[in-house]
Parts: sequence; C-alpha cells; structure tokens
Amino acid sequence: MGISFFQQLFLIIILPVLCIATVPAKSQCLEDQELLLFHFKNSLKFDSSLSTKLVLWNQTTDCCLWDGVTCDNAGYVIGLDLNNEFISGGIDRSSSLFSLQFLQSLNLSSNQFNSLQIPPGFSNLASLTHLNLSNSGFAGQIPIELSRLTRLVTLDLSTLYFPGVRSLLLQNPDLAMLVQNMTELTQLYLDGVNISARGYDWCQALSSLPNLGELSMSNCYLSGPIDSSFAKLRSLSVIRLDQNNLSAPVPQLIADFKNLTALRLASCNLNGVFPAKILELPALQTLDLSLNGLLNGSLPEFNHDRPLQTLVLSYTNFTGALPYSFGKLGMLSRLDLSRCNFSGPIPNSMANLTQLVYLDMSSNKFTGSIPSYWMSKNLTHIDLSLNALSGPLLSTHFEGLPDLVYIDLRFNTFNGSIPSSLFALPTLQKIQLSNNHFDGPLAGFSKASLSMLDTLDLSSNKLQGPIPKSFFDLKGLNVLLLSSNNLTGTIQLESLQSLGNLTTLDLSYNNLSIEISGSNSSLSSPLPQITALKLASCNLKIFPDLSNQSRMFMLDLSNNQIGG
Ligand SMILES: *[C@@H]1O[C@H](CO)[C@@H](O)[C@H](O)[C@H]1NC(C)=O
Ligand SMILES: *[C@@H]1O[C@H](CO)[C@@H](O)[C@H](O)[C@H]1NC(C)=O
Ligand SMILES: *[C@@H]1O[C@H](CO)[C@@H](O)[C@H](O)[C@H]1NC(C)=O
Ligand SMILES: *[C@@H]1O[C@H](CO)[C@@H](O)[C@H](O)[C@H]1NC(C)=O
Ligand SMILES: *[C@@H]1O[C@H](CO)[C@@H](O)[C@H](O)[C@H]1NC(C)=O
Ligand SMILES: *[C@@H]1O[C@H](CO)[C@@H](O)[C@H](O)[C@H]1NC(C)=O
Ligand SMILES: *[C@@H]1O[C@H](CO)[C@@H](O)[C@H](O)[C@H]1NC(C)=O
Ligand SMILES: *[C@@H]1O[C@H](CO)[C@@H](O)[C@H](O)[C@H]1NC(C)=O
Ligand SMILES: *[C@@H]1O[C@H](CO)[C@@H](O)[C@H](O)[C@H]1NC(C)=O
Ligand SMILES: *[C@@H]1O[C@H](CO)[C@@H](O)[C@H](O)[C@H]1NC(C)=O
Ligand SMILES: *[C@@H]1O[C@H](CO)[C@@H](O)[C@H](O)[C@H]1NC(C)=O
Ligand SMILES: *[C@@H]1O[C@H](CO)[C@@H](O)[C@H](O)[C@H]1NC(C)=O
Repeated sequence: MGISFFQQLFLIIILPVLCIATVPAKSQCLEDQELLLFHFKNSLKFDSSLSTKLVLWNQTTDCCLWDGVTCDNAGYVIGLDLNNEFISGGIDRSSSLFSLQFLQSLNLSSNQFNSLQIPPGFSNLASLTHLNLSNSGFAGQIPIELSRLTRLVTLDLSTLYFPGVRSLLLQNPDLAMLVQNMTELTQLYLDGVNISARGYDWCQALSSLPNLGELSMSNCYLSGPIDSSFAKLRSLSVIRLDQNNLSAPVPQLIADFKNLTALRLASCNLNGVFPAKILELPALQTLDLSLNGLLNGSLPEFNHDRPLQTLVLSYTNFTGALPYSFGKLGMLSRLDLSRCNFSGPIPNSMANLTQLVYLDMSSNKFTGSIPSYWMSKNLTHIDLSLNALSGPLLSTHFEGLPDLVYIDLRFNTFNGSIPSSLFALPTLQKIQLSNNHFDGPLAGFSKASLSMLDTLDLSSNKLQGPIPKSFFDLKGLNVLLLSSNNLTGTIQLESLQSLGNLTTLDLSYNNLSIEISGSNSSLSSPLPQITALKLASCNLKIFPDLSNQSRMFMLDLSNNQIGG
C-alpha cells in the first residue's frame, strides 16, 4: 500500500533496533552501590507501614529501578528522593548514605527526624548539587560541615512553623559562613530557620551569591533595613521575606530587579512609602505586602499590560484611587485590597479583568456604583463590604458568575431590589447583604441553588413583603438573618424543621407574626439544634418549646405578647 520494500525493511528490522537503542539506558546497578543502599535502608528508622518507596527496596530488582533511586549511565547512584517516607532516624556519622560519592540530589524532605541535628556527614557528599531537607524535622544548629557543599545549586532547609517545635538555628556558623563558598546557589530556602541577623549582616552574606534566583527566608528573625549590598542580587526572580521584623522602608533598589516575578513581604513591619516603580517591573506576577500597617503607598498608572496575577495589599496604608489603567492588569486573578485607605470609585475598566477569581476590596472608602458588568466569569469570592458604595445591583452583575461562592456587600448604601439572578447561582455558600438600603420584595431561590447555601444575611435593609417559601427549603442553611427589615406575613415556627442545619436565626424587628401550632407533642421532628435564636418583636403569643435545645446560648424573645 505504497510502502516500499525498504520502508518495510525499516519498520520490521531497523526501527525496533533504534527503539531499543533509544530507551533510556536503565543501566545495571553497580554491586557496591546496591550494598550501600541496602545498608542505608537497613539502618534507617522508618515506619514501614506508611513508607511507599523504601519498603519496596529489595534485591530481587536492579537497585537503579528502586523507587526514589536515580542512577547515571555507569550505574552510580546520583539521586535519592525519600520525600515523605516516615523516616525518624538512623543516619549517623557512619551511615552508608555518606559513601554514595556520586550523589548529586538528595531529598529527605517531609520526614520526622524528631528534632535531631542535621548529620555533619552530609559534607562527604561532595558532588551534591541539590539538597532538600525541608520539613524533615531536623532542629538545632546547622553544622558548619554543610558549608563544604560548594557545588550546591539548590538548598532547601525550610520548615513550617509549629508552636512548640524546635527550629533550626543558623547562628554559629551564621548565614555568611554557611553560604560563603556556595557560589553556584540559585535557590536558597531557609524559611523558619532562626537566623537572628541584622539587615547589614544577612544582606552582606547573600551578596556573595551572584547566581541567586530564588530567595525564601520567611520567619527567620531577620531585622532590617535591607542593606545596599542586596543590590548585587539583581538576578533574583523570587524574594520571600514574610514575617521578619524589618521595621524599615522597602528600598528603591528592588525596582532594578528586572527579572523579579514574586515579592512577598507580608507582616514585615515595613514603613515609609513603597516605591511605586516596583509595581511597574515588567515580569512581576505576585506582590504581597499585607499586614504592614505603617506602609504607605499608592497605585501608579499602568502604561503597559502587566503579568501581575496576585496583588495583596491588605492591612497596609495604601491610599488614593485605583487608576483607570488598572484594567490593563489583564492577568490579575487574586486582588486583595482589604483594610487599606483607598478611596474614589471602582474604575469601570475593572470589568475587563477576565481572569479574576478572588476579589476583596472591603474596609476602604470606595464610592460610587460597581461596574455594570463583570467579564470575570471565574469569580468565586467578592467582598466589597464596609465601603461607601451605592446604586443598585443589576441582574447582569451575577448572570455570568457560575462559580461564585461568597458575596459580601455589607455596610454600604446599595439600594433597589436584590436581583433574582443572585439567588439562582448554583454554587453560592454565603450571601451577606446586610446594612444597606435594599428594598422591594424578595425573590425566591431557584431549585438549583438550594443545596449549597450556608449563610444568608439580609438584615438591616428596607425589604418588604413575605419571606419566600423557598427560603425554608435551604437544607444546608446554617445562618439566616433577616432582622430589621419590613418583612410581612405569618410564619409557622414548625416550618423551620426543614432547615436541618440551622444554628443561627434572627427574624426580629419586622412586621412578621410567628405562630406556634397548638400541641408541640405532635411535632413529627424537633426543631434543629439552634445556638442563637432571636425572635424579638415577632408577635409571638406562646413561648416556644425549647426543651430539646441543648446548644442554645443566645435567646431573644423580647417585644412579644407572650403571656403566662
Ligand atoms: C521488591 O521490589 C519489587 C519492585 O519494586 C516490588 O514489586 C516487590 O513488591 C518487592 N518485594 C517485596 C517483598 O517488597
Ligand atoms: C525533592 O527535592 C528535589 C531537590 O530539591 C526536587 O527536585 C524534587 O522535586 C523533590 N521531590 C519531591 C517529591 O518534591
Ligand atoms: C523540596 O521538597 C519539597 C517536597 O517535600 C518540595 O515541595 C520543594 O519544592 C523542594 N524544594 C526544592 C528547592 O526543590
Ligand atoms: C571557603 O573557601 C575558602 C577558600 O577555599 C576557605 O579558606 C574557607 O575556609 C571556606 N569557608 C568555609 C566556611 O568553609
Ligand atoms: C532565635 O535565636 C535567638 C538568638 O539565639 C534566641 O534568642 C531566640 O530565642 C531564638 N528564637 C526562637 C523562637 O527559637
Ligand atoms: C533575566 O533573565 C534573562 C532571561 O532568563 C537573563 O538572560 C538575564 O541575564 C537575567 N537578568 C539578570 C539581571 O539576571
Ligand atoms: C520590631 O523591631 C523594632 C525595632 O527594632 C522594635 O522596636 C519592635 O519592638 C519590634 N517588634 C516586634 C513585634 O518584635
Ligand atoms: C496613612 O496615610 C494617610 C494619608 O497619606 C496619612 O495621613 C496617615 O498618617 C497614614 N497613617 C499611617 C499610620 O501611616
Ligand atoms: C477592555 O478590553 C477591551 C479589549 O481588550 C478594550 O478594547 C477596552 O477598551 C477595555 N475597556 C476598558 C474599560 O478598559
Ligand atoms: C475559568 O475556569 C475554567 C475551569 O476551571 C478554566 O478552564 C478557565 O481557563 C478559566 N478561565 C479563566 C478566564 O480563568
Ligand atoms: C449539614 O451539616 C452537616 C455537618 O456540617 C453536613 O455534613 C451536611 O452536608 C449538611 N447538610 C446539608 C443539607 O448541607
Ligand atoms: C412597611 O411596609 C408597609 C406596607 O407593607 C408600609 O405601609 C410601611 O410604610 C412600611 N414601613 C416602613 C418603615 O418602610
């Protein structure tokens, strides 16, 4: 069929030969390497019921095929990845691990070395380029011997902070001694290591690392200010220094780091004015300056499209208006400007942020109405509470938001009726619209949206008319707050039985009449277990039967007509 003899010959004879030749040469394990690995395994303390790699190491298979082991073509072990193998000890000075002379990459991260010191023997592994001991449970002073690993390209000693767990210390030797000769380092992760160094010292120490691309030293007890020697690290693409008490301004020199993609300085006690030029860096994707209450700043005009994806400025003293050009940040997916000092209108251009998933602009002084449509089809979280926003909500605001989970517009002056399209969103869990000027009758929930809703807070508005029947079909509802409106009608207390997960109910101060049917004993199922029940001014005539309520800590039945 058009395949020539030579092509057939190729397919039948030559191709298979080529295939065999190009299969990565899974070379045979060298005997001494296998013995070393086997001794290493046998001396390790690890939980064999939870281990997934080590537990399967056995001499029936070539050791280069053991899970977690990588060999070079000659059969020498060059990589060991024993991440999360429930190892708790068994690496001492004489461990055969340290005889694996060809090892280039060693990962013992996420193990449980119960506050043991890092074994000095690692320094025998002179070929190591990658060492990962993150969250491995080692603690105490990092041994000076590690500084001999001068070929390291990546070093990860980061540890998540857990209260009461001892941390790693880098004091004697200090950071300068540790990294002095590690001139190849491109990634240095020391999060959670107690370095306790002054700005001048830790910056000088790092300035000897010309290739450093990623620096992560959050929660290291570093103090500031960031020293001018830091300017030598202009190859940095990632800087993470959260949770260090720098108590200083952010230096202008960072605006020269043209390759910077991520800058995280949350909770650093920063002060002064944040250099706006940093926001204009061409590669910046992530900026987190949150929890720096003394940090002043404002947003510049964005003259070009920017790759910014995450902008978190919450709990800072950023002021002023959002520039109209904000809409050029077309990649933005997480925007948190909560608890700053921003003012002015929300620019219409924000409707263009098609990638937006998380939006929190709460507790500022934003004014005006919200853009009439959102192109952000993937929004899951909208919080605009505690501003001075006004105007009506339109049904177009919600029609295209199929993934919305959370909406909080509390404490503004929005008016008009609540669009029924909001109550038709299938994934909503929390709707919080209290303390606005919403009026008109309430729309019901559509069937599709009944199951997920957890919180519905419409209190302190000017809503009128009856509570729609569908409110009592919200089977997952936990919190229902409708107080201080002008809702009317009669409600049977028994209708709450269908709200099986209800824990907080407030219907006070409306024009409602709540009735309790004559004999409680006829109730087929008791009321849900409520912790806070507020039915003030609800025209109650009978004291409700609360004998089955074991979790109630708040009860308000004031302003009723209960006798007896
Ligand atoms: C030995 O190793 C092979 C390959 O990893 C594995 O399939 C087998 O279960 C192991 N045997 C034992 C007894 O662990
Ligand atoms: C283990 O660490 C190495 C070197 O840092 C890294 O390349 C590898 O991805 C890590 N393994 C896992 C499972 O994270
Ligand atoms: C170290 O291993 C962890 C997995 O435990 C991984 O998440 C991390 O990225 C690794 N660090 C480096 C620098 O590769
Ligand atoms: C770094 O290398 C120099 C020159 O080889 C040596 O004198 C010094 O002791 C080394 N520093 C450390 C901390 O090992
Ligand atoms: C960190 O190290 C400093 C200096 O050695 C010490 O005073 C401090 O208590 C350490 N902090 C923690 C949390 O270990
Ligand atoms: C920035 O990255 C580019 C491309 O990776 C590289 O060529 C350049 O040298 C880097 N700039 C600096 C200052 O490291
Ligand atoms: C942060 O450092 C400043 C200056 O050294 C000091 O006054 C302040 O008490 C420190 N704050 C905390 C929370 O340690
Ligand atoms: C916050 O910024 C405003 C306006 O720039 C300024 O008046 C105020 O003093 C700043 N507050 C703090 C705590 O820096
Ligand atoms: C929104 O984006 C479109 C296309 O990129 C552009 O034409 C329009 O001017 C933008 N609108 C605003 C308000 O930024
Ligand atoms: C929205 O989410 C969908 C599904 O998670 C994803 O495929 C799509 O790329 C996202 N679109 C945007 C604009 O982020
Ligand atoms: C009621 O709450 C329980 C426990 O939180 C949860 O598992 C269940 O799914 C909820 N019921 C509904 C209908 O959401
Ligand atoms: C409450 O609604 C009734 C009509 O249903 C109306 O007469 C009354 O003025 C309203 N009260 C307030 C305070 O809006």
